[in-house]
Amino acid sequence: MRATLSAESVFWCVMRTIRWNEQLDHLEMIDQRLLPGEFKIISLSSYQDVATSIAEMVVRGAPAIGISAAFGIVLAARQSNAKILARMREDIHSAAELLRTTRPTAVNLVWALERMSDVADHFQGGTEDLKKRLLDEAQKMANEDVEINKRMALFGADLIEDGDTVIHHCNTGALATVDWGTALGVIRMAHEQGKNIHVLVDETRPRLQGARLTAWELEHYNISYEIISDNAAGYFMSTGQVKSVFVGADRVAANGDVANKIGTYMLALAAKDNAVPFYAVVPSSTIDLNLNTGQQIPIEERNPAEVLDIQRDGKRLSPQGAKARNPAFDVTPNRIVTAIITEFGVIKQPFKENIQDMINQVE
Ligand code: MRU
Repeated sequence: MRATLSAESVFWCVMRTIRWNEQLDHLEMIDQRLLPGEFKIISLSSYQDVATSIAEMVVRGAPAIGISAAFGIVLAARQSNAKILARMREDIHSAAELLRTTRPTAVNLVWALERMSDVADHFQGGTEDLKKRLLDEAQKMANEDVEINKRMALFGADLIEDGDTVIHHCNTGALATVDWGTALGVIRMAHEQGKNIHVLVDETRPRLQGARLTAWELEHYNISYEIISDNAAGYFMSTGQVKSVFVGADRVAANGDVANKIGTYMLALAAKDNAVPFYAVVPSSTIDLNLNTGQQIPIEERNPAEVLDIQRDGKRLSPQGAKARNPAFDVTPNRIVTAIITEFGVIKQPFKENIQDMINQVE
């Protein structure tokens, strides 16, 4: 850590991206749309607010979305007037339906909602007790997220050597999770182990999660970095300046195809062509065994305004009437992924068999 820390950084370093406020019975989260210009915590008192916050990317990153949705279910139970369990379950299911539609690619969202619905469906007791039980489960999931990230970080940090320069795409740090992060968590762990590393941060158009959020985190961790435009990554790899690439994922199919932030596929292609190892760092909750290949992963297409509203001197750059397409994710085929790092270890090719073996071992 730097010697001079702002009040904001001290506060941020000890808090989580998402947390439950016991006094107010509200969910609190950092408004990531405002970073790095403004550090603001917002307080959410309804599951509808949580749904809006996920859709509008106040909170983003697959694990953070999943845990926010879990707390959304806690709020739904507290909003319910039901006095009998069956009625409260109905209210929970309808809240889960709304939350499920907010971001279609991140499977952690579905995973978290199913886990919370499962708790409600199997619960025996009164409605007040169910409210408490759901809060316990959401808190447990939040704590597990941090533990899992640290375990992945230890496995992944072994793949980084002192003096390495690595490329990182989007934001996969503490902000994208409850705390610590996935791919950025690996980089953070390597740094904490005393390795001297340098990060080339893809700016990550169109929402600039790299230039805004990853750079902001790296500033706080005092890790050396430079922001590059997304289309410069191939240049840095082809000129021998990059040792490895680390990304997260929103969903991994059973065959190891990786859906992640738009631009990941091109990054992986350039890595393959330059024999640079390409690693996806994912908790097992991001692996969707129901989908055989990445072709089946739903790809969110967001508002074209995110692409068109690039400004210079306060004026929009593209002509009035210009149209745009804005897929938020792409799928990197397993054949160009070097390894997938999970909380259970590093999975290599052939992914289909090795992912299944890993699941069998932990079940
Ligand atoms: O659209 P975003 O910002 O939610 O996209 C985030 C990513 O693509 C991350 O790489 C992914 O969620 C993994 S983060 C731990």
